[in-house]
Amino acid sequence: MMPTALLSRREAIAAIAAASLAAPAMAQSKRLHYGAAAMKENFLEDARYREALIKYCDVIVPMNDLKWEALRPTRETFAFEDADRILNFAKEHGKGVRGHALCWYEALPAWAKTIASKAEAEKELRRHIETVVTRYRGQIPSWDVVNEAIAHDPASQGIWRDGLWQRLLGSEHIDIAFAAAAAADPKAELVYNDYDLENGDGRQQRRRQHVLDLVRHLQKRKIPIHAIGFQAHLYAERAIDADGIATFVTELKKLGVKAIVTELDVIDWRLPGLNPERDAASARHVRDFLSALSVAAPLETVITWGITDRYSWIPEHFKRPDRLPNRPLPLDRDYKPKPMMQVLQEFRNRA
Ligand code: XIL
Repeated sequence: MMPTALLSRREAIAAIAAASLAAPAMAQSKRLHYGAAAMKENFLEDARYREALIKYCDVIVPMNDLKWEALRPTRETFAFEDADRILNFAKEHGKGVRGHALCWYEALPAWAKTIASKAEAEKELRRHIETVVTRYRGQIPSWDVVNEAIAHDPASQGIWRDGLWQRLLGSEHIDIAFAAAAAADPKAELVYNDYDLENGDGRQQRRRQHVLDLVRHLQKRKIPIHAIGFQAHLYAERAIDADGIATFVTELKKLGVKAIVTELDVIDWRLPGLNPERDAASARHVRDFLSALSVAAPLETVITWGITDRYSWIPEHFKRPDRLPNRPLPLDRDYKPKPMMQVLQEFRNRA
């Protein structure tokens, strides 16, 4: 009999060979798939939240339950129950899913601080990705493999964001993460995910440039990357850089890499207080953004980071000076669709 070590090495080599550099067909049809990230607490406690996910979404994404912090209570153990609850719900209701996120400098468990050497970091990162992606092979067709590896302001901070993986492994942690994900599921769509890629200032232009450089670097090393995830936490007061986005997605297309929207919401802290005006402005902003993004190729996936204004991460970070509640998402606090939902449906109904 073949020794298992040899078998798994062979399998790994076969998997890398099978993983194509071009994006696999995630969805059956080219129609846009709209979805939302679901937060466990709201999902468990609020029946209306679950109903909204069923009613409006083609795709459901566990918001926090596939992060290291949630999956890795100790160095030795993996805890999949919370993620599975949401993933099984999606399956029962015929919805697609996405995975977020395999490698991020945030949301690490406390024990991760004890990872002390380069060799240990590489071993733990590989083991995590192999275990998680293999467990969900055939079930989670698209993964945010690396999240937010580019610095907030690369000109003043250096290209790469400081964090555990970067400190111990340098930017090679990105190569390791993508290669491990490709080996574990050669059919999965592998995504680099980041924020602040949609405005026209120099900082965001540089961030887009570094994303393109990263794609070229991975491709040169024959490491698959299939899509860039625009988190798209859109500041309503900053104009969408339609030209910059068009150039960016056209370059990505030439490289065979798609653009998807992974965490859309509108940061409405600087918009007028009146709800109808505010909701109309947010919807226009989303339309401007999605139109710009559709220039090179029709959009296939748009995920909002939550679904109702009742529950969102935005108020924790972007409170309004007038103290009125934020309205960042497509449904209001009472689950009524806002103009933003109409815009999403418009894009979804495009042929
Ligand atoms: C946020 C969640 O929405 C919160 O519930 C959690 O407390 C912190 O993380 N970019 C990301 C997401 O990639 O994972 C973050 O999600 C929001 C910013």
